[in-house]
Amino acid sequence: MSFRFLGTGAYVPETIVTNDALSKLVDTDDEWITQRVGVKRRHISKNQTAADMATEAAKRALENAGVLPAELDLILVATVSSETAAPSAACLVQRNIGAACMAFDISAACAGFLFALETANAYFMTRKIKKALVIGAERLSRLVNWSDRSTCVIFGDGAGAAVLGEGNAYLDSTFTVTGDDTVLRIPNYAGKSPYWEGKSEDPFIEMQGQATFKFAVQSMVRDIKLLLERNHLSTEDIACIVPHQANSRIIELAARKLGIPYERFVLNITEYGNTSAASVPIALDEAARKGILQKGDKFIMAGFGGGLASAANLMIWE
Ligand code: COA
Repeated sequence: MSFRFLGTGAYVPETIVTNDALSKLVDTDDEWITQRVGVKRRHISKNQTAADMATEAAKRALENAGVLPAELDLILVATVSSETAAPSAACLVQRNIGAACMAFDISAACAGFLFALETANAYFMTRKIKKALVIGAERLSRLVNWSDRSTCVIFGDGAGAAVLGEGNAYLDSTFTVTGDDTVLRIPNYAGKSPYWEGKSEDPFIEMQGQATFKFAVQSMVRDIKLLLERNHLSTEDIACIVPHQANSRIIELAARKLGIPYERFVLNITEYGNTSAASVPIALDEAARKGILQKGDKFIMAGFGGGLASAANLMIWE
């Protein structure tokens, strides 16, 4: 016994920031961002927290699934940008939608949604739960250094959610963690302890762009290959890949190395930028609603990022 998706939902804030708007903030231009990253616009929150956006995505997923909040046994929110450490974003979602179940957050950066699905799956396997709500939600605009042109053009805000019920759609998964704080790092607020003698840093995203790029391509190629080989599948057996939307060049290169047509990757980075843990579930919702995923289709979700952590899973759309 694993799970299957009963419904999906996504939410992005209304405010759109174009590349041209960003070029008024830092020394950049639409051409550079489009060519090097693949982003045209990103949605930026003016007054909604990560938990607020998670709540909106959750409501849409519940409606799509035809499931009531009272039926939920578990809520997981994958996030690195929740405004509060306590209560967790998951606890706030639980209150906001009127559920009464266990709820907690998962921190695995851009691979977070996949780590959360694996966690939920463990509960389904032990038959402890019948329905779960798994969300990826981020207000990365809170963690971006808006004067650093090499990072501020990449990220965006948003949330994606999925309602899970009992089923056998989660076929396989792979997870790799290599503890490293030199490639990608987001420090937390250090506090104001009179005893603290360590560093006090701004809580902004720090990234070695090229090292991150290499790690991303290598991880995605390795993880997808492994799932195909282990399950005796060829690339032709996979209807689509739902990848983390980090950079369209990362996806292009991975597609080429894997021998999978680029068109088979679900892509929306142009519209939303990199929304970290929210990026895979937003793309999943899009694939579901646009009918890219059809009953019986095998598909792979792949995520990678800070940790360094990467993950992929093989599923069937039921
Ligand atoms: N606009 C214009 N120029 C920019 C710029 C911007 N927004 N950001 C950086 N540049 C400049 C650099 O200053 C550098 O100039 P120089 O040659 O005069 O020194 C030049 O562009 C090339 O910089 P480089 O860092 O080598 O560019 P790149 O091709 O590696 O692209 C990234 C930079 C960040 C887009 C790319 O490395 C990347 O996408 N990495 C992965 C990021 C990612 O996926 N992060 C999330 C992981 S989950």
